[in-house]
Amino acid sequence: MPLSLAQMRRNYTLDGLPDATAPDDPLLLFRQWMQQARDTEQAPVEANSMCLATVDAQGRPHCRVLLLKGFSEAGFTFFGHYQSAKGQDLAANPHAAMTFFWPGLERQVRIEGPVCRLDPQLSDAYFDSRSMASRLGAWASPQSQPLADRAQLEALLAQTVERFAEQSPPRPEQWGGYCLQPERLEFWQGRADRLHDRLDYRLHDGVWTHGRLAP
Ligand SMILES: Cc1cc2nc3c(=O)[nH]c(=O)nc-3n(C[C@H](O)[C@H](O)[C@H](O)COP(=O)(O)O)c2cc1C
Repeated sequence: MPLSLAQMRRNYTLDGLPDATAPDDPLLLFRQWMQQARDTEQAPVEANSMCLATVDAQGRPHCRVLLLKGFSEAGFTFFGHYQSAKGQDLAANPHAAMTFFWPGLERQVRIEGPVCRLDPQLSDAYFDSRSMASRLGAWASPQSQPLADRAQLEALLAQTVERFAEQSPPRPEQWGGYCLQPERLEFWQGRADRLHDRLDYRLHDGVWTHGRLAP
């Protein structure tokens, strides 16, 4: 007899976040955790998958899974269609939150901040690095628009394949990258008996400070 959802729980015991080991720069910790997630998460979990939350012009939140494609001091980058629902949300409200969940490490990272479009040359470079199928798909699919049926999508792809029979597809103007510039990062490490560790980093006047939050 399977457990009811209310009875499902695990005790988290893999690791801890001692106060003394918290670096001043949260990017250092993010880099270390991302590397450990890449090294240890078992397929089919993609270490760079995250849930991206945006808020629409009416103040309603929406979230969906995306892939993080890079991060640096400049911010955290992801790609999609600028006319998609998330693109429209970001045009109306250029703030977002992303959450990574690495179950094999009993970890979560939350990142929040303003979002801007990536420099077009960087979007071009990433688009050109994608497979032909992905590039054609970006042209063929009007992301987030209603489709009558699957056949309509396949017909759009067939037209796109024909259109680019003689030339390599360039990046569509309405497809590209975004960069979330972090103002807040929170690192969560599951601990025994629900006494989890939460390290909270906030950016003030270009300087990161950190503290601990109750679980
Ligand atoms: C594992 C996974 C990775 C995904 N990666 C992306 C991505 O990098 N970019 C993207 O636009 N959509 C990605 N998607 C699809 C999105 O979840 C979503 O369906 C799409 O972006 C449309 O969302 P929107 O209508 O809210 O704009 C991914 C979905 C999954 C499950």
